[in-house]
Amino acid sequence: MTLTTEPGERQYDPVSLAPMAFWAKSPEEREEDYAVLRAERPISWHPPAEGSMMPPQEGGGFWAVTRHEDIVAVSKDPDTFCSGEGITMEDVPPDILEAVSSFLATDAPRHTKLRKLVSAAFTPKRVKKIEDQIRDQARRLVDELIETGDCDFVAQISRRLPQWTIFEMVGVEDQESRDLATEGADGMVSWGDDEVLAGREPTELMTQSLMQLINVAVDHAEARRAEPRDDLMTNLVQAEVDGEQLTDEEIAAFFCLLSVAGNDTTRNTTSATMRALTLNPDQRTLLREDFDGRIGVAIDEFVRWATPVMTFRRTATRDVELRGSHIRQGDWVVLFYPSGNRDPEVFDDPMRFDVTRSPNPHVGFGGGGPHYCMGNQLAKTQLRAIFSEILTRVPDLEADEPVYLAGNFMQAIKSMPCRLNL
Ligand code: HEM
Repeated sequence: MTLTTEPGERQYDPVSLAPMAFWAKSPEEREEDYAVLRAERPISWHPPAEGSMMPPQEGGGFWAVTRHEDIVAVSKDPDTFCSGEGITMEDVPPDILEAVSSFLATDAPRHTKLRKLVSAAFTPKRVKKIEDQIRDQARRLVDELIETGDCDFVAQISRRLPQWTIFEMVGVEDQESRDLATEGADGMVSWGDDEVLAGREPTELMTQSLMQLINVAVDHAEARRAEPRDDLMTNLVQAEVDGEQLTDEEIAAFFCLLSVAGNDTTRNTTSATMRALTLNPDQRTLLREDFDGRIGVAIDEFVRWATPVMTFRRTATRDVELRGSHIRQGDWVVLFYPSGNRDPEVFDDPMRFDVTRSPNPHVGFGGGGPHYCMGNQLAKTQLRAIFSEILTRVPDLEADEPVYLAGNFMQAIKSMPCRLNL
């Protein structure tokens, strides 16, 4: 079916990506809908996301970009498709957006300056130090796993390594602050899940979560100004570009971004990979036969397979035509990364989990352009460390059916029982 869009005219696509019912489907079921859109209507118009935190605009909606090539093109054209108007497919109250998303939801020149400032704090020395520590921590986590025995893989493994990495790097040492920040980070991506909402409105959950994160950040920033240490927070309060330093609000926003971007993403990639290795024992065998030789290529397949970030939004800064669709200035344009990562034009047999897939130009870390994931190397280090330990010390570990979080942003696994089979 072809839906033509003349300038000024638009029709909602019959395959709707807006309702909660779509996001309640399994990733495989959603892929069936993406496949129709990719093949027949790669740029499609949809009603506003159901359950939005803000009242939807009259006649509003969003364009869904489902082909790999278009996700890359939009990501690499920030002048036409900007991030400063918001990055989620739901409207978020502006104060929350400002406070939580840091430079992720900004455009040049502010984005360039803030990203440069923060990059200046990720010194090669700091990255090298954390890499060594990640390997030690992965070993300890698997020690504990072996002691514990059969358990929830998410709570025991996937959740703990990224959380530990971020807090260790930033310098959040006490357990109370770590727990508060983790709860806050989880809350920030769970506004669509009734179990997590527990009767609260989405904005209430977001505000509570945000306050928890901001309080931890501001306390730590003050402490490091008074007494510098060898950690990222100290680098952040001292970092300077063109004679300017980060404000407390900017530091808090960056802490929120790191806590969310650096936690849930690697966590869910770890969980989804464990499940994929369970369902594809031939791929596990390939990795075990030559872990060091194959893991570099395999990690990209882990990220393609998991695609933990499902959507990011841009806003059109001018009228523009994309594959024949007339996008107006101010229209929302949503990138569907899971769809891009199963695009048969780019990936042979895309539904196959293949740890030897190469090249693997997945869009799991974004489609390129100025916002491309800043933590991709760190995430890869964590994935290499944890799967090295698991595949050598608990090589027959099996993960059972995952329980997914409901929502349109993070492809998240809340829990997943595992058996060690030792
Ligand atoms: C498997 C793990 C991860 C995945 C799949 C992932 C994915 C993404 C995606 C899709 C984006 C947006 C790209 C775009 O808009 O073009 C992003 C941005 C970002 N990520 Fe990651 N991420 C991961 C891990 C991490 C980690 C571990 C950190 C930090 C420690 C991190 C920090 C960031 C930051 C700071 C940005 C914003 C960059 C900017 O706006 O300039 N990410 N990530």
